[in-house]
Amino acid sequence: MSAEFRFAPLGAEHLEALCRIDQASFSHPWTEAAYRQELEQNHLAHYLGCFHGEELVAFAGMWLVLDEGQVANVAVAPAWRQKGLGRQLMEQLILRCMALGGRSLSLEVRESNLPARNLYDSLGFRTVGLRKGYYTQPAEDAVLMQLDFPEESPE
Ligand SMILES: CC(C)(COP(=O)(O)OP(=O)(O)OC[C@H]1O[C@@H](n2cnc3c(N)ncnc32)[C@H](O)[C@@H]1OP(=O)(O)O)[C@@H](O)C(=O)NCCC(=O)NCCS
Repeated sequence: MSAEFRFAPLGAEHLEALCRIDQASFSHPWTEAAYRQELEQNHLAHYLGCFHGEELVAFAGMWLVLDEGQVANVAVAPAWRQKGLGRQLMEQLILRCMALGGRSLSLEVRESNLPARNLYDSLGFRTVGLRKGYYTQPAEDAVLMQLDFPEESPE
């Protein structure tokens, strides 16, 4: 990855740019109010962005409850896809989750979302279940995936 991209935590000042990427990426985007709550008030939420210069080009968020991380959302702006940014961002999110004491990271993904499923597969996530009719607009099942972090070896 070239040095022209940097990864950094997101705050309320990135709300507008984040929502633009979300709206361009999902058939049922979250509202601005929902993301504002995430960025400003939800202490369990951790969001990372990928910046090209000052431009936010991708974001990923997770919730960490005790030692279990749950991916909230991941999206790369359409013009910036298939350049390795989604992978870099997920790797950063995994590192952040580990650094905060997480022992696993799980997520839900639409069954038909092959780009995302391929990405998660290649990062070592394994399928742990199926949630029938989880998504609407359009209706679809969710595949549940989980990555367990390696135990620290005793000194
Ligand atoms: C899924 C998403 C985040 C991937 O981001 P990206 O930056 O394009 O992904 P990368 O370039 O880092 O690719 C990483 C891997 O993802 C998979 N992948 C990415 N795009 C793909 C495509 N169009 N078709 C199949 N696999 C694809 C591949 O396994 C790829 O690895 P490879 O390049 O070694 O083949 C992006 O497509 C996106 O934002 N989609 C819309 C939002 C979304 O679906 N988010 C996930 C919700 S669960």
